[in-house]
Amino acid sequence: MSSIHPDIARILITQEEIAVRTAELGRQISDDYAGEEIMLVCILKGAFVFMADLARAIECPVQTVFIAVSSYGNSTQSSGVVRILTDLDKPIDGRNVLIVEDIVDTGLTLSYIAGLLRDRHPKSLRICALSNKPQCRKKEVQIDYCGFVLPDEFVVGFGLDFKDFYRNLPYIGILKSELYRKPEC
Ligand code: IMP
Repeated sequence: MSSIHPDIARILITQEEIAVRTAELGRQISDDYAGEEIMLVCILKGAFVFMADLARAIECPVQTVFIAVSSYGNSTQSSGVVRILTDLDKPIDGRNVLIVEDIVDTGLTLSYIAGLLRDRHPKSLRICALSNKPQCRKKEVQIDYCGFVLPDEFVVGFGLDFKDFYRNLPYIGILKSELYRKPEC
């Protein structure tokens, strides 16, 4: 996809920048977990694109599991209510769990999921997020591996959606403001 999508106001992070940063994160994670196995927990749906690339950039043995949650519905603002739609299909006790997320905004989704997984007694629990929008944080979460810090804009692409569209864009871009109502923090 070479041209910019007509609904995108501006590309924030290009496909090439994402590829370079993902490779860096993969190397860092491989070093940090050297000699260990990692269980990657992909938060669906948004993280599936990033996770596919990240998993291939990690040299340690990895297992992949998926958890589907819903917190936004068709809105651009977090409801604060996180619903587990599909739970993990494997136990995580005693495993090195690395949560893979597309974006951290208010922090409500990740803090809920991290709490839920911590209660299942993993050996370790860390978080890798493709992007971070720190301006609207409501719950502090420690992001151990962060791809990009973004401004307070509603972004789509590379797994990130609006009404389930735009996930297939190969870059992260700002959605044109006339297409949605910008939420207050
Ligand atoms: P939080 O609970 O507010 O941190 O939001 C986390 C979830 O909201 C992410 O997993 C995304 O699915 C979604 N989200 C937050 N900001 C954006 C955005 O700018 N674009 C698309 N989805 C977003």
